[in-house]
Amino acid sequence: MGKLNRRQFVGASATMLSAAGLHLPMWAQAVTGNAAGSAGPLLLGVDYYPDQTAESLWEEDARKISEAGLTNVRIAEFAWALMEPAEGRFDFAWLQRSVDILHRNNIAVILGTPSAAPPPWLTVKYPDVVEVNEKGEKLRPGGRRFTCPTNATYRRLSLAIATEMAKTFAAHPGVIGWQIDNEFTLGSSPRCYCDFCRAGFQAWLRSKYGTLDRVNHTWGTNFWSQRYTDWAQIPVPLPSGADPNPSLALDYGRYQSFANASFLGEQLAMLRKLCAKHFVTTNNIGVPYDVIDARELYAHLDFVAFDNYPGFFDMLLHQGGQTGPLLGSVIPTTIAMQHDFGRSILRKPFLIMEEQSGKAGQPTFSPQPEPGQVRLWSYQAVAHGAMGINYFRWDTATLGAEQYWHGMLNHDRSESPAFGEILQTVKELKSLGPEFLNSGYEADSALYFDYDCSWAVKIQPGHFRLSYPEQATTWYGAASPSHTGIDLIGPGSDLSPYKIVFAPLVYVLAESQADKIRQYVKAGGVFVTSFRLGVKTESSQIVGTPLPGFLADVMGVTLEDYVPIYAQNPHVKFNAMLAGADAECGVWADILKPSTAEVLATYSSGQHGGKPAITLNRFGNGKAVYVGADLRGPDLSKVLGAFVSSAGIKRPIDVPEGVELTVRKNANRRWLCVLNHKSESQTINLDGSFKDAITGQSHSGATEIAGYGVFVLERT
Ligand code: GAL
Repeated sequence: MGKLNRRQFVGASATMLSAAGLHLPMWAQAVTGNAAGSAGPLLLGVDYYPDQTAESLWEEDARKISEAGLTNVRIAEFAWALMEPAEGRFDFAWLQRSVDILHRNNIAVILGTPSAAPPPWLTVKYPDVVEVNEKGEKLRPGGRRFTCPTNATYRRLSLAIATEMAKTFAAHPGVIGWQIDNEFTLGSSPRCYCDFCRAGFQAWLRSKYGTLDRVNHTWGTNFWSQRYTDWAQIPVPLPSGADPNPSLALDYGRYQSFANASFLGEQLAMLRKLCAKHFVTTNNIGVPYDVIDARELYAHLDFVAFDNYPGFFDMLLHQGGQTGPLLGSVIPTTIAMQHDFGRSILRKPFLIMEEQSGKAGQPTFSPQPEPGQVRLWSYQAVAHGAMGINYFRWDTATLGAEQYWHGMLNHDRSESPAFGEILQTVKELKSLGPEFLNSGYEADSALYFDYDCSWAVKIQPGHFRLSYPEQATTWYGAASPSHTGIDLIGPGSDLSPYKIVFAPLVYVLAESQADKIRQYVKAGGVFVTSFRLGVKTESSQIVGTPLPGFLADVMGVTLEDYVPIYAQNPHVKFNAMLAGADAECGVWADILKPSTAEVLATYSSGQHGGKPAITLNRFGNGKAVYVGADLRGPDLSKVLGAFVSSAGIKRPIDVPEGVELTVRKNANRRWLCVLNHKSESQTINLDGSFKDAITGQSHSGATEIAGYGVFVLERT
């Protein structure tokens, strides 16, 4: 494709996709100006802060952003104080001037609603809007994300400013969409425990349970004399001399997720009404380990958007005591899982709303990305299903708490080290085009990720070192090298598209979900799960039947015992199918007693030596595998890999360790995305002839991929 400007480019894609018979949502029709069809606008932009920049620089910024080939900006998400300097007195003139300038320079605008950081007049006048943390302490204004999601006053004022913005910009031709709020869960204490939340929780419980009898029965409130005789007596789980009722605590997690999603929902309903032609999304943190159920938060948005900071994550892990070059190993897997989650939530391409473009940090810096890494991170997102990327941020702030968070321009407005790399990446992604960026994703397998399990394990981990996020990431990391694609699914998902489903630490399991799993295995699916399976019902009651409760028939085992491990980790001996050296069992061992299952591994030491550790049950046309031992690293990869192969999944090409492979595809084309996360070059073996869609070069046989290099290969 020759050199096109943004409008021409988007127009060309519209024509192409309308030929393919695709239908457009209203916002995409508005952006492309073509109601017949398109995959939507191209979003290769940058986060921009006119509110923090002298107006004399706006014109120059817009020109440079445009010259850089960027298509759009996201602005205003932290500009409430300027947009409403006093209650009810709105001033959008400055923002209009900024949007006008950007529009004249052919830069489309995503507007952020500003409810993540209220102005000082608001919190002085309405001090009750401020959040109370899990210790019962009221936060203080002065940072951001310190407000209560339930508080009616805060909701009213947030909706009011967002509504005035929407009215002002609904018809502006430069505006294409909205980001509601900013990173709903980022605060220092992301759940609120104030009196408004308590009342909100009580109302939510009333609509969930109907009667107090049901609450008392479901939660087992006879324990410690907690029987409630009035809704108003129900507390929130604040420190109370001992641990809270686990059923109440799990319901409180659900309520907080609901409160945030419904806070967003109020702004969404308004935007749908006033700005029907604009897309609406929000940017959350990407990893699914969160206090908000992202499936609930994004349910009614046009697409998922989230923020991606691999280098910042690197710094945090080092702060947490990890050492060594994590960016080549642990981090790519975690980021890959985050991207897979982003794609899986709405089962469509997603947007990176903020992508790291330099050293990142608030009081401290992350490492400077090495040459090639910023491009690699962008391609990693795209390889997993991103349709667009916004780099964070255009300039680097000289004032405020994020002076250390580097953007595309340095403090002195010179170009940052990765500036050229970002321009190159944007140019390449444009030439790959919307057909590629909006294509689907190939996933034969799925990882089951359930917020109920995550929250319930956090409430009662069983072992102080047992963590659901860690287990989920470990299983994702162990499963991913053996095939190409993993979707992240949850309790509501259809299991039937997958040849294999990995489901570690399914501690909470509703009977209805167990039925789904039963049907899936019966019909030929392979279900691979682990210890602590089905211990609790969705009300956080322990099941009264032998573990694994509702799935005992499918797994073909019951539990002889469940054992937390503190010292003398037992070893696991594999049978012929899984052959290899004995493995060490980590923090947990379920001791299995097969009814119909076959034993694939036994504990080889300790008091349970000789007892089954891994079993396989043939059930209907499928298989159910119980990994009772907490395996890690290569041992877990070997076990999961064996079932991947036996499920008939084969990688399209062989890649060495440190090289990631994903497949994007549409009805006619299939792109193999190959990403080298190592700094040194590596060799991949191509079993045929391929063309790199980025460079146009042909490759076959043993092919070298440069350190931090990327290929997007199509078979020729
Ligand atoms: C994100 C946030 C941005 C900015 C950025 C860098 O978490 O959405 O507002 O703070 O990180 O710190």
